[in-house]
Amino acid sequence: MEFKLEQGGKTKILLVTESMDELNIQNELYQYLKESEIFKGSLKETYLDLNLNKENFLFLGLGKEKDLTINDVRKAFHKAGKDLMNIKAKNVGISITELGDLDYNEIIAAATEGLLHSEYAFEKHLTEKKVKPTLEEVYFDIPSEEKDKALEAIEETKSLINGIFLARDLVNERAINMYPEILANTAKDNLEDLNVKVDIYDKKAIKDMSMEALLAVSQGSDKEPKFIVMTYNGNPDSEEKIALVGKGLTYDSGGYSLKPSLSMDTMFSDMGGAGTVIGAMKSIAKSKLKKNVVGIIPACENLISGSAYKPGDIIGSMSGKTIEVLNTDAEGRLALADALWYAATEVKADKIINLATLTGACLVALGNTTTGAITNNDKFMDEVYQASKISGEPVWQLPSHPDYKKQIKGDFADLNNTGGKGAGTITAGLFLEEFVDDTPWVHLDIAGTAYIDKPNGYLPKGATGVHVKTLYYLVKNQ
Ligand code: BES
Ligand code: ZN
Ligand code: ZN
Repeated sequence: MEFKLEQGGKTKILLVTESMDELNIQNELYQYLKESEIFKGSLKETYLDLNLNKENFLFLGLGKEKDLTINDVRKAFHKAGKDLMNIKAKNVGISITELGDLDYNEIIAAATEGLLHSEYAFEKHLTEKKVKPTLEEVYFDIPSEEKDKALEAIEETKSLINGIFLARDLVNERAINMYPEILANTAKDNLEDLNVKVDIYDKKAIKDMSMEALLAVSQGSDKEPKFIVMTYNGNPDSEEKIALVGKGLTYDSGGYSLKPSLSMDTMFSDMGGAGTVIGAMKSIAKSKLKKNVVGIIPACENLISGSAYKPGDIIGSMSGKTIEVLNTDAEGRLALADALWYAATEVKADKIINLATLTGACLVALGNTTTGAITNNDKFMDEVYQASKISGEPVWQLPSHPDYKKQIKGDFADLNNTGGKGAGTITAGLFLEEFVDDTPWVHLDIAGTAYIDKPNGYLPKGATGVHVKTLYYLVKNQ
């Protein structure tokens, strides 16, 4: 799909809000559609006027102008993209105006994003593809003084989509093809040409660093764990850096605390945090953000075998803290414990954000639309909120006062890896906090949002790639 800032396109998209009394183009038809209540302009509503030898018109509803958000525009254009694909449109023209609180660039970026989203499908394992993209050219008609900024907005959006699609592809791929070594190599293949240094630590190196918690989780698998560190120095003049840490369980069977089959068949997606971090690194590096960022992924599989760790085992960790494994299915926090300690004490990051498909309890509490958050620093949390507002990827902070800590204090080890009944998402988050060494930190539990079982707006069924954008804007606004 190519974007051009000029007039053109056989199909014209007409942007319509519910309060528009008339349109500059096709007004007669519009009046008829409105009066007869065929088309009202509600959000994502479309009406197609298809003409054999003349221009086509796609009326695209945006709802109430005063309520209009960037994310609404993304959703509307995703719908338009799908409609255009249905009529096998090769090119489309859109005349952009400022709407509600949104300026030209915001609307162009959101339109670009929505149209690109409409072409995503994970179909590499289908013998016959279902989604067949047709759109070759998109023409945006905007005032000439807006063009420079619009070009920038389009380029930035393309970088973002690149990262989002990479995250989705990584997470959608099944564990038979996507295990720690492949995850690490794919990160390298995608990032090394973009000025990101990718270091892959193998099992021996992980042992040498005393990452005993990560090792314990990986023990039951024939596939070696990998510890992946991606370093991007976009601002060599500054010492400041932010760490993005992603849970990289390429499969989570639960281990000896075995999951029921119905909960296991999507557990190839338990590296959702890793996918998001790799995707975000790609977007950040492609856009050449002038920031220093380190992406960190503990990657392994949680399986059963004669060498697997067992419920009741007491294990060590890189930090020196000991942990009693009350449940081998609470493995993400173990792998992350070592990764967070590494981020805090080896990388010496000024801020750490981690993303993890960590608890089923988060899915129960917040569902598929909202990510749960735990923090030790309200100011940093606020920065994450600001980023999530721009990205349209909702986040909600959960309470984490010290009383909850009692639930994970151990009797035979320093910590237990589960917190007993109640507040499972919070106690998991507080377990992680034990390993950040006072660094400002936010934990995002994406168990409900990283992988969904039916499409939602521009998010497809399966991996969503959610929070690639949030991380990007968080880094950009540092
Ligand atoms: N990977 C799972 C969490 C999960 C569940 C992600 C559903 C996505 C969808 C995690 O490792 C896990 O199994 N957590 C346990 C923790 C419990 C044993 C304290 C859970 O949520 O049941
Ligand atoms: Zn688990
Ligand atoms: Zn897991």
